[in-house]
Amino acid sequence: MLVLGIADGHDAGACLVRAGRLICAVSEERLTGRKRQAGWPGESVAWCLAFAGAAPRDVDAVAIAEVAGRAAPRLLDSWYRRTNPNLPMNRATNRIVMRVQNGIAAFDLLARLDAAASRFVLRDRLRRHGIAAPVALVDHHAAHAMSAAAGSGFAAALVVTMDAFGDGLSSTVWRWSGGELVRLAAEPFPHSAALLYGLVTAYLGFAEGEEGQVAGLAATADPTRGRAVFAQWLQAGGSRLRLWRVPAAHLLRRALAGLARAEIAAGLQAAVQDAVAEHIRYWIDRTGLDRLVLAGGLFANVRLNQVVAARAGAGDLFVFPHMGDGGLCAGAAWLRSDDAPVAPETMFLGPEAGPSPETLPGFASRDNDAAVMGEVARLLRRGGIVGIAAGRQEFGPRALGHRSLLFAADHPETAARLGDALARPALMPFAPVVREGDFATVTATPRWRAFDHMTVTADARAGVADRHPVAVHADGTLRLQAASPEREPLLHAILTACAAPGDPPLLINSSFNRHREPIVTTAARAAELAAALRLDCLVTADRVLVRQP
Ligand SMILES: [Fe+2]
Repeated sequence: MLVLGIADGHDAGACLVRAGRLICAVSEERLTGRKRQAGWPGESVAWCLAFAGAAPRDVDAVAIAEVAGRAAPRLLDSWYRRTNPNLPMNRATNRIVMRVQNGIAAFDLLARLDAAASRFVLRDRLRRHGIAAPVALVDHHAAHAMSAAAGSGFAAALVVTMDAFGDGLSSTVWRWSGGELVRLAAEPFPHSAALLYGLVTAYLGFAEGEEGQVAGLAATADPTRGRAVFAQWLQAGGSRLRLWRVPAAHLLRRALAGLARAEIAAGLQAAVQDAVAEHIRYWIDRTGLDRLVLAGGLFANVRLNQVVAARAGAGDLFVFPHMGDGGLCAGAAWLRSDDAPVAPETMFLGPEAGPSPETLPGFASRDNDAAVMGEVARLLRRGGIVGIAAGRQEFGPRALGHRSLLFAADHPETAARLGDALARPALMPFAPVVREGDFATVTATPRWRAFDHMTVTADARAGVADRHPVAVHADGTLRLQAASPEREPLLHAILTACAAPGDPPLLINSSFNRHREPIVTTAARAAELAAALRLDCLVTADRVLVRQP
């Protein structure tokens, strides 16, 4: 059975599940070049079919995430796509949109009428692709939950989803066992830790989607005073997680008067960690399921994921690598498929990088051959920046070694140079990668599955910050990836080439994009960016381009 999965909200995308296997997946932003591209993912649908060599009539079913409250943006798609309305959550218009959308979801008759209108519009859109297969609308949080459960490969797990809202809900808890998801609890909008996080992110002057910078800032201050404020509003108790107040800007201003920005960020991060950890601990204790599986935009917060897994006593942790709404297409397709889901071996599910240009002005070009690793290691040791654009693209916001910018973590001046070139905010910590076999030498944090995909932090061992200052954040944590020779052969080989006796190699693995732009897709675009950013080297599948002095 071939199922086309679609996410058409903010950060749209599409995927194909064939015989239970997620064979390809891409976010629309990677094809249009617009970060978090919203709306109908026409380019992604076309790419998926072309990749699979499938004709439109080969699609047996279509699964589209989100049922209720979406008819209007679907109807006004060209406007929705163009304006890409990722407005800060504290804007009045956005607040109204949130209320209307959740209002529709809360009333059964309205929700059904809205879904019928959605189905009508979506069928028409699919017909333009030549697809006539039946369309199923899939509940937002069920799709998040299934993406994580099926993606984990665990036989049994506790699945928790949290975001601002979707289909009227802000968080859900599920039992995953025997290939079935059973919902144990659901919290309606607006009882959302993510909503609170988003409101405070906007209050601090950050743009929508910049919660990561707030989390980065949080590590630099004492959380005590801010935590007391937010803990009045966001509370876990028994089976529930409640946000008692959706604070408008004037309330935040009054409650947080006299607190520095970093104190507010630290307090928010701490209060959210406290509540979410207590909530999940309750459900782990109650169900006896100690493998924890997470999805939903809140769990883009890698520090939160570590604290929650540790405090809740999780035996293992998996976070769906495309944890935000861009990952909904995968969960929707798996839910619709009649075949048992098969966990993907890697997240390299997107388009091939393709060939790079033969030559690039200012760069020497030669074939990518056996000698390349030595040359790359030499450049990295000297503080050079090496770009990689090879193989299939990662599905999700993190680059895992196919669209990466690498440099040695003992070169702060390189971090500053790259940060400037990418216009990257200084608050965003750089994330390191080690070989799987070296994992325990840099941290004592358990080797959770989440470290495959850089979706959780680890506590750095003593001495790591001295040797690799760029890798360790202000709070002593690493946003760590463990590279395996099977999953990430190129990245693993580069690390091995960098190994020196007695010191396991540790590189920074940053995504190949300018700040506020999507990660590059093609090697051709990577080459343009390599020249513009003055990278020292670009490695593609067929060529090595080295910048000449
Ligand atoms: Fe969501």
